[in-house]
Amino acid sequence: MQKINSEAPVCDLGFNEKHEAIQPEALKIASKSRRRSSAASTCSFSSACFTGSSDEDDISPREKRQCNSRGYTDFCVKNVTNHHAFGRREIEIAEQEMPGIMTLRRRAADDKPLKNANIVGCTHINAQTAVLIETLIKLGASVRWAACNIYSTQNAVAAALAEVNVPIFAWRGETEEEFWWCLDNCVNADGWQPNMILDDGGDATHLMWKKYPELFKGIKGIVEESITGVHRLYHMSKTGKLSVPAINVNDSVTKMKFDNFYSIRESILDSLKRATDVLFGGKQVVVCGYGDVGKGCAKGLRAQGCIVYVTEIDPICALQASMDGFRVVKLNEVIRNVDIVVTATGNKHVVTREHMDRLKHGCIVCNMGHSNSEIDINSLHTPELTWERVRSQVDHIFWPDGKMMVLLAEGRLVNLSCSTIPSFVVSVTASAQALALIELYNAVPGRYKSDVYLLPKKMDEYVSSLHLPTFDAHLTELTDEQAKYLGLNKAGPFKPNYYRY
Ligand SMILES: NC(=O)c1ccc[n+]([C@@H]2O[C@H](COP(=O)([O-])OP(=O)(O)OC[C@H]3O[C@@H](n4cnc5c(N)ncnc54)[C@H](O)[C@@H]3O)[C@@H](O)[C@H]2O)c1
Repeated sequence: MQKINSEAPVCDLGFNEKHEAIQPEALKIASKSRRRSSAASTCSFSSACFTGSSDEDDISPREKRQCNSRGYTDFCVKNVTNHHAFGRREIEIAEQEMPGIMTLRRRAADDKPLKNANIVGCTHINAQTAVLIETLIKLGASVRWAACNIYSTQNAVAAALAEVNVPIFAWRGETEEEFWWCLDNCVNADGWQPNMILDDGGDATHLMWKKYPELFKGIKGIVEESITGVHRLYHMSKTGKLSVPAINVNDSVTKMKFDNFYSIRESILDSLKRATDVLFGGKQVVVCGYGDVGKGCAKGLRAQGCIVYVTEIDPICALQASMDGFRVVKLNEVIRNVDIVVTATGNKHVVTREHMDRLKHGCIVCNMGHSNSEIDINSLHTPELTWERVRSQVDHIFWPDGKMMVLLAEGRLVNLSCSTIPSFVVSVTASAQALALIELYNAVPGRYKSDVYLLPKKMDEYVSSLHLPTFDAHLTELTDEQAKYLGLNKAGPFKPNYYRY
């Protein structure tokens, strides 16, 4: 059962203050390093990354002596000496587009709400998450950090963190065994005991629970970012294995809206363009599913001049699509004519081999949903079809009559495979993560039980307010009379927990 707590947070970070604009910090380091695109990660925020030269690829970082320019050795990264300057520049670029977390950093830097917090972090390691890590340190925390994904680490960013004495254990292309070794080095350190966990996928929590269960006695709380990790936490809670409170950041309103709609509305275009150079104007597109992700896809593509059809199983979403001006159809009705097929249902086998047999020549097929079985890729591995890899993440599949279909990212999430996640979106999530850590760390005993909670509504509102100055948005304040009339506190929360935004 999800628990919802709408009490005011214990730490006053100026929730009711006027929103101030942030001044971008000047870039300090000019690096001569060249930018390369990162390879696809399975679920990460990937962005520009210098991945290191091939001659060093054969030697595991574990085999190398690790030491930064200050003589600090408590880390393990690919190459601290050669990569750190480039990584620092990437972090500074990300800071420009992460106004919320940077404002939080400034506002709370004096109060140090995370003083004496020892945080084990297990997240993607890229420029945006580095901004979060450095914010937590500025707020008083001591951290030890590992990657939650063996492919998504930006080596240069990890090097930049190591160069400023952050105990970080991560490099791109870790083996499974190295992955657990890195995490173990974070959890189990001499003279340092964690009291908070920031997880993305639940691996830090899992490792501690399996290998160091006694450490949970000192843990004040877990903050979890991903759907998978949240499922694991709810499972632990149901089976009585969760011994500390946890906050599910994944389902906070701000995170959901930004990840599932605003980010998608742009990244569907970005990924299709980068992969195929397609011109959108006048193209016929079918979007399967009209949840938040489908809405983002449909609206983003229509804004470019596409003729967009929608398929749905749910009459409410179908009615929404109709009222938004989209034709709701069965896939069979349009499959012969469309130029692009996008799945966004979270379901399986939404696009079948029969559908693909009927596609027109050159049709682009891709998936935005979590599961890579929305498009029945297995059915395309038959002898009569010929696959040709034409670019990274782009396959041309030929039928015997010469018809060709363009398949992106082999049916995996196309935006995460073929484009990047905007730093602004990560700023929203990072702000929510930092606030959740502050909340759990400072909560008076008894406020939270050993269960999974949503981010308090007031904090969700605060996360949004941190990002408003970017748009020079001016909030209207309730008058006393209006607040009384609506039965609200003038400082929020402004909506009940069941409100659907
Ligand atoms: N690519 C990304 O970056 C990203 C970000 C967030 C979520 N996701 C994933 O995208 C998927 C959709 O997310 P959402 O938040 O929109 O979910 P949602 O549940 O709100 O929407 C999915 C919609 O698909 C409809 N649907 C289900 N089966 C269908 C079928 N056979 N044909 C047509 N419609 C069907 C459902 O009725 C629903 O309205 C999920 O798998 C989610 O994990 C991806």
